[in-house]
Amino acid sequence: MSFHIIGTGSALPERRITNDDLSQFLDTTDEWIFTRTGIRERRICTSETLDDLACAASLRALEAADVTASELDLIVCATTSGDHILPAQACAIAEQIGASCPAFDVSAACAGFVFALDIADGFFARGRARRALIVAAEQMSRLLDWTDRATCVLFGDGAAACVIEAGGASPLAIELSTAPDTAALSVPGVPGTSPFASMRSPQSMLAMNGRRVFKFGVNAICDAVHKLCETAHIELEDIDHFVFHQANDRILAAASQRLGIEDDRMARTLRTTGNISSACIPYTLDVLARSGELHPGDLIALVGFGAGLDVGSSLIRWE
Ligand code: UT7
Repeated sequence: MSFHIIGTGSALPERRITNDDLSQFLDTTDEWIFTRTGIRERRICTSETLDDLACAASLRALEAADVTASELDLIVCATTSGDHILPAQACAIAEQIGASCPAFDVSAACAGFVFALDIADGFFARGRARRALIVAAEQMSRLLDWTDRATCVLFGDGAAACVIEAGGASPLAIELSTAPDTAALSVPGVPGTSPFASMRSPQSMLAMNGRRVFKFGVNAICDAVHKLCETAHIELEDIDHFVFHQANDRILAAASQRLGIEDDRMARTLRTTGNISSACIPYTLDVLARSGELHPGDLIALVGFGAGLDVGSSLIRWE
């Protein structure tokens, strides 16, 4: 089956937190964070909820697509940091935007957006939907250990969405994979207060082996791009934009160097947002779309990677 993106939207919290702000309470510096990651600032929720951000991003995508909520057949939200354990974040979005179609979440960490695209494509293929809203929304700030300088400086909050419609030239290729490794990057579930639990549960805070994820990320991007080209029978030179997960500028630089890609074909948004997990890819797509950098016919390679270790990649054509 096939689809095309007919509208994008995004929303970030108001509050900007610079590296200097972090150095007020952490043993870190703007120089360390910027040279090691390429991040200068991130947006962090204060009074906003993730529901607020996810709905704002969704409404912008619907407006850009000229589609109403009642015309949607499916809502899939990629998230691992929703406002609710249940119901799904997608149900809260449906309620607030006034949709009545099936709505559910996908948990595939930073690869979640591409996983959600593939799921929606399956609904199209089975004739179960014609229009879907794909949202990626993350409030990473609620999962972070704000005393751990090695992780809390990397992430931010934000949401992005796109409306996709059945028919069209995408995806030319789409690949999902998992290299099971639950220790490299994890957040334990809520400890709860069961009187029957015999073990003390850890707090729900993010822990990561940064070097392991770094190496995995570079390899994942390079392998995925080569596989996409092979599947779609195209050359690397045919791809106009590389929209990869925005975890670390050095991961992007290492991948572009190994792939031999010119830097201006590699999209970068992490400088002002940090790593917003599943929302990185659709946020970057929205920035490119709204700045007029995407043209009809452009080929875009998407690669998301992260906890799992999950990788989702796709080659799409902008129409
Ligand atoms: O969505 C996917 C999720 N995450 C990622 O993709 C992250 C992938 N990994 C990375 O981006 C990098 O590994 C990090 C940015 C997390 C770390 O960079 P690194 O160059 O691998 O640094 P490191 O962990 O080897 O630490 C080097 C030093 C250590 O000090 P010592 O032991 O050499 O004295 C750290 O304690 O830097 C120290 N350090 C810091 N110093 C100042 C770690 N974090 C900070 C900090 N400020 N924020």
